[in-house]
Amino acid sequence: MKHLLSIADLGADGLEELLELTDSMTEVAERRIPKVPALRGKTVVSLFYEDSTRTRLSFETAAKRLSADTMNFSVSTSSVKKGESLRDTVLTIEAMGVDAIVVRHASSGVPWQVASWVDASVINAGDGWHEHPTQALLDCYTIRERLGSLRDRHIAIVGDVKHSRVARSDVLAFTALGAHVTLVAPPTLLPPSLEGWPVTVSHDLDSVLKTVDVVYLLRMQKERQTEALLPSLREYTALYGLTRERAKLLGDDAIVMHPGPMNRGVEVAAEVADLPRSVITRQVANGVAVRSAVLFKLLGSQPGSDG
Ligand code: CP
Repeated sequence: MKHLLSIADLGADGLEELLELTDSMTEVAERRIPKVPALRGKTVVSLFYEDSTRTRLSFETAAKRLSADTMNFSVSTSSVKKGESLRDTVLTIEAMGVDAIVVRHASSGVPWQVASWVDASVINAGDGWHEHPTQALLDCYTIRERLGSLRDRHIAIVGDVKHSRVARSDVLAFTALGAHVTLVAPPTLLPPSLEGWPVTVSHDLDSVLKTVDVVYLLRMQKERQTEALLPSLREYTALYGLTRERAKLLGDDAIVMHPGPMNRGVEVAAEVADLPRSVITRQVANGVAVRSAVLFKLLGSQPGSDG
């Protein structure tokens, strides 16, 4: 495997392989000194044209745990501000000698373009509304950790599916591993066509919550208000927010997930996000191990035994 651009490229076997490799990385993370020399001499650059907290920092942490060197690129302090093109920026960075480029961009397809320009491995860290494959991997890992397996589990993905790269990658990954997915959203926040999506659709969150193993809340993108997709955020919360009352409809073992960043009080009530059934911070922790596994799969040999 040279690049990680889409969940679709992995298939069920590729997903399982990366999740098993993540188990090894979790074991490394639990050591007194959580570091192995597996990627010594390799350089990983983060090329983020969009803001990020979780993805950027966890890739950087993952690379350091594997003893890789890291480089960070920030648009706001770069020559992009002087008009340098994406292609020239990428070729400039590659000329410094990098082995992997972790790229996030507001336009769908940019990671594929970057991969066509360079010899380095390219990892899609989120492209427009299209895909966010490592988020889906860490979500699968977290569900497997809490529920044992995704097979025959019922997962509701709730909220702004239309603009969500997380939803697209999660649907591909969850269903490849045998889960049933229900999308729950107002019609204006669903894609215009769901042809080919292996999902069911509901507009009634209360009835769906009684049947799910996982409720996966998406960020309500407040900026979309300008597109008049919703009458108001208050109405959205009333119909689709996981309020304290609504959370009581969940089964005893059902878990609550969110990719972050959260809007507490909009898609999830503040106190619901902190319930024991919420695994939101566990998702973040697993993100480091999953991204270590991805970097190792693309760049490494076997994990070092002297960490
Ligand atoms: N979930 C996620 O991609 O978060 P960041 O935007 O903080 O990276």
